[in-house]
Amino acid sequence: MTEIRTVGVCGAGTMGAGIAIVAARAGYAVVLYDTNADSLERAATQTEGFFAKSVERGKMTEADRDAALAAYTRTTKLDDLAACDAVIEAVFENLEVKRGLLAALHKVCPEHTIFASNTSTLSITEIAGGCGREDRVVGMHFCLPAQLMKLVEMSSGLNTSEAVFAAAWAFCEALGQRPVKTKDAPGFILNYFLVPFNNDVIRLIEAGVAEPADIDKAIKVGMGYKMGPCELLDLVGLDTQVLLCEAFHGVTSDPRCAAPPLLKRMVAAGHLGRKSGRGFFTYDRNAMYGA
Ligand SMILES: NC(=O)c1ccc[n+]([C@@H]2O[C@H](COP(=O)([O-])OP(=O)(O)OC[C@H]3O[C@@H](n4cnc5c(N)ncnc54)[C@H](O)[C@@H]3O)[C@@H](O)[C@H]2O)c1
Repeated sequence: MTEIRTVGVCGAGTMGAGIAIVAARAGYAVVLYDTNADSLERAATQTEGFFAKSVERGKMTEADRDAALAAYTRTTKLDDLAACDAVIEAVFENLEVKRGLLAALHKVCPEHTIFASNTSTLSITEIAGGCGREDRVVGMHFCLPAQLMKLVEMSSGLNTSEAVFAAAWAFCEALGQRPVKTKDAPGFILNYFLVPFNNDVIRLIEAGVAEPADIDKAIKVGMGYKMGPCELLDLVGLDTQVLLCEAFHGVTSDPRCAAPPLLKRMVAAGHLGRKSGRGFFTYDRNAMYGA
């Protein structure tokens, strides 16, 4: 297998910005690609802020920060991913969008390049289908916030080669992450529980049983969670939660996975969580979680 030196990240949103930080921190050259220049701008601001805090807290030297930022580029041109040995996609949770992206990447990237999808609910086999290198596509599901959480759920599609999966596993460890193996199944491990759980929380709010702050307090104090579900949903992005619900409900038909009406109303109002500055709570939209 060709050594991985340059990592492409597609999608500079909530997950892509964090995954790019993980790769830059681990010493890889990073090319962050997004069709939306605002997402790239915001990711750059967040990254600089995150690394500045890391230096302040003694988690990173100034020299490492400078080297990481010097090897970190961002672009709106797909062709700029031509030198990447691995590309991790974190674009919208939509099968057609991901399939289209992989097929386009196949034309741009060298033969050896591994493609990884950060999908939460879609099938790796279906995302890879028709892209032209189905044997070189793996699932790498990072957890939110990627720059702080070590877990990556890794899965193979039906056509993924064993050698490629092994190389992607080694790459994941070299990123400083801790992979676990799962089947190519909707929601893998974490979202199988989390999507319906978070929807139950939203329905509880909708029914007027408790306020978001009180639900979060109950879950943290009573169950020992570090983060409450409303805080987590704001971090996930309420628009992303809707896409997760649609994808998950589409394959499982589980009514608990259908997007609750309150969630849809909040998204229609532009209350997307941290990324828009307002969700269940209010935020500085340019601040990176954990920075
Ligand atoms: N948010 C989470 O908690 C979370 C956790 C784990 C995995 N994921 C998965 O990560 C992926 C991204 O989720 P997110 O929350 O970061 O979304 P997001 O909406 O915050 O960001 C998505 C970004 O992708 C860009 N994009 C969309 N289509 C594109 C294309 N064709 N080419 C290039 N860029 C494109 C958008 O402009 C946007 O900046 C999804 O597959 C999601 O299921 C999300």
